[in-house]
Amino acid sequence: MKKRPGLGIVGYGGFGEFTAQVYAQMPQVRIVAITDVDVARRESAAERYHARAYADLTALLADPEVDIVVINTPPWLHASQAMAAAEAGKHIFLEKPLATELEDADILLAKLKKRQVHLTIDYVLRHVPVYETLLKVTKSGLLGDVTYMRLENVASNEALHDQHWFWQRLYSGGIFIEHGVHFFDLCNQISGGHPVHVSGAAHSGPNDRQDRVMAAVTYANGTLANFYHAFDRPAILEQTVLRVVLERGSIVVTGWIPDHLELEGTLPAEQRNQLESLLGVPLTVRDVPAPVGISGATAGQLVQATLDRADRNADYVEAVKRGMADFVMQIQQPDYTPLVTFAGCI
Ligand SMILES: NC(=O)c1ccc[n+]([C@@H]2O[C@H](COP(=O)([O-])OP(=O)(O)OC[C@H]3O[C@@H](n4cnc5c(N)ncnc54)[C@H](O)[C@@H]3O)[C@@H](O)[C@H]2O)c1
Repeated sequence: MKKRPGLGIVGYGGFGEFTAQVYAQMPQVRIVAITDVDVARRESAAERYHARAYADLTALLADPEVDIVVINTPPWLHASQAMAAAEAGKHIFLEKPLATELEDADILLAKLKKRQVHLTIDYVLRHVPVYETLLKVTKSGLLGDVTYMRLENVASNEALHDQHWFWQRLYSGGIFIEHGVHFFDLCNQISGGHPVHVSGAAHSGPNDRQDRVMAAVTYANGTLANFYHAFDRPAILEQTVLRVVLERGSIVVTGWIPDHLELEGTLPAEQRNQLESLLGVPLTVRDVPAPVGISGATAGQLVQATLDRADRNADYVEAVKRGMADFVMQIQQPDYTPLVTFAGCI
């Protein structure tokens, strides 16, 4: 397919609206169709993008101008809608999660193989500049292997009223599946390994709402990790911190769409230029005396760097664009290796 692919948007809620505005600015794609069970929303969106409004997915799939089906509905619908799109021979740009049940994910991936259509999951964090930098540094090995990761993501529940699908595990899959998948995916990349052991715990608040979850993960390569998510506070107290500990240093990244990174570590003087060019900011070097009272302890030099992004929202928009651009390349260029693959899953 060499033409500009037509997007058929399924679900025009909060995220559907945000991403449609971004796709509308992209020369690589055009929005041709929209469906949402909310009639007013689908009609106003269709008018805005000069697209066709359809009453349901079946009608949208019958539109020959739709090349890529963009699924932004609540999680429990993802697998069945993606399955229908694959059946219709359409490519699928799927919001996370892939499915709320493992069995559905397996069936869907098997179907994709048979129908020869492409599917990607919108792991938007993979395209965020601060995480791209973090990954370059961890993969370089300049500070050694990753030994430990700790994610703390404390988020607001203010926009999540009692009846919201987010609180119903049948509809959302729960916090780890609806939201935590971003960070499991990211940390799998950072570790470079795959999880072999997971244990977890959760807290339920009023109305049996599971609002805090945590997991301890062991990766095959020995990396250990802790993940904590809570949707239990006002928006002004939101905070996301990812700490990555390496053999010879540590990196701390802050923000849901991160805009701040701090690195500290030791490495030979001749490798500092390489680290600086990966980070894109200068290193400062500090002489550190040997700790007192430890026999055989050595003095050394500690390198430090701080990276700040000017505009977090602009980075989010750019990440959404890159995710779609990556998928279009995957569809149009047979030799292209996309960022999100299902290697090892099917
Ligand atoms: N990647 C990210 O950064 C990110 C951020 C936010 C949300 N999301 C994901 O986006 C998806 C949607 O989240 P949201 O916050 O926009 O939810 P939302 O509730 O605001 O929007 C969902 C929309 O889907 C519509 N819908 C429901 N059933 C439908 C059906 N059968 N056919 C067509 N439309 C239907 C609803 O009317 C609504 O407009 C979720 O999977 C969520 O996890 C991703």
